[in-house]
Amino acid sequence: MQTARRNFLRQSLKATAAVPVLGLSFFEDIQAATLQIKGKSDLQVASDESFWYQVQKSFTVSPHFINLENGYFTLAADEVIEAQIKNIRMINEQPSWYMRKMQWDDRLAIKKKIADFAGVSHEEIALLRNTTEALNVVIQGLDMKAGDEAVMTNQDYGSMLEAFQLKAKRYGTVNKEIDLPLHPKSDQEIVDIYEKAITPKTKVILVTHLINLNGHVLPVRKIADMAHGKGVEVISDSAHAFAHVDFKIPDLDCDYLGTSLHKWLGASLGLGMLYVKKDKIANLWPLLGDTGMPEDDIRKFEHIGTHACSSDLALANALRFHNIIGSSRKEQRLRYLKNYWMEKVTDYPNIVLNTPKEDQRSCAIGNVGVEGIEPAKLEEVLYDKYKIFTVAINHKDIKGVRVTPHLYTTTKDLDVFVSALQEISSSM
Ligand SMILES: Cc1ncc(COP(=O)(O)O)c(C=O)c1O
Repeated sequence: MQTARRNFLRQSLKATAAVPVLGLSFFEDIQAATLQIKGKSDLQVASDESFWYQVQKSFTVSPHFINLENGYFTLAADEVIEAQIKNIRMINEQPSWYMRKMQWDDRLAIKKKIADFAGVSHEEIALLRNTTEALNVVIQGLDMKAGDEAVMTNQDYGSMLEAFQLKAKRYGTVNKEIDLPLHPKSDQEIVDIYEKAITPKTKVILVTHLINLNGHVLPVRKIADMAHGKGVEVISDSAHAFAHVDFKIPDLDCDYLGTSLHKWLGASLGLGMLYVKKDKIANLWPLLGDTGMPEDDIRKFEHIGTHACSSDLALANALRFHNIIGSSRKEQRLRYLKNYWMEKVTDYPNIVLNTPKEDQRSCAIGNVGVEGIEPAKLEEVLYDKYKIFTVAINHKDIKGVRVTPHLYTTTKDLDVFVSALQEISSSM
């Protein structure tokens, strides 16, 4: 952002401090650009660089390296950050007053917005800090006894597997870990693998909606339909899927879902969401003690004590940004960026692509290995020699670097990455 604009913003923030303004106007250029693309399909817009240039301008990106590691969490747009700063000031000026008199109404308003976006009732949504917290509420809170079984895969996120391991240690529950193919031939192949692991003792399946290691999108709805037919509940780990691939929670028909809003929605760091289907709330134990709320009230999971409400408020700005772009348009662009580099490197020597190619099975995240180079070494060479930031993945079945572009990524950045891979792979 230009200095003059920053200074102007600072002045206006001073003048209106103590009012939680959510409607800063950073996105006019994108709104104007959407008029130019009227009539074009989202797929056509995916490669319209003049439109995406307007979106790229909404971010302040480090000039020191090419960031292709947007999986941990991604930068929020400038408006979100400015709104958060403004909200920090507003809360800081009236701290206990805000907490006692204002926070609950604001929180309810924000929850209604995010619930509406997710296609569910705000009475099924708890705002928490991240997916780890959200899914620990579920995994630790499920009423399972010794011998009851849970099904998961070795490609699920480490913290979720650890949460189930803790439960097994504490209560004697049993975890069944399955293998997943990297390039399945059909959804049914995946559903069958989960189904085979189910026994009369199975109570729950954990499904990672979009696997962080290689970007594989799993058919959650089909797995849920199969599981429900056998009386088994389904947890969707949608940390990477929410606001990345275009879906509403009811499309999945899962019983529980956790996500991190600081990932693909671009909300402020430290904001996550738990969804629990209305009729499952009463039977799920809260992680933190709460005796004040009725047992079937989702707010019993939100008893987290004093926390950074300023981040919650800026969620409205992240949603505004996302909605101006549109879920489907964003999904098409993210997939386009992944395909842009992947299609160019497919035939290079020694290249191993660890991400399924079909559109419905992947989106922004791709994983690539080079035969003869350890993942950590590949990550190191990409950064040291080319200033490209990726992350090494060294899973028993997935060896390579994870490459995650985002909305601010340019095709020029990806061209640099493609040439780097060409040099590295042909030097082997
Ligand atoms: C699949 C998956 N689940 C859960 C998480 C945890 O997210 P957080 O660290 O925001 O809690 C991640 C983080 O990358 C993830 O990839």
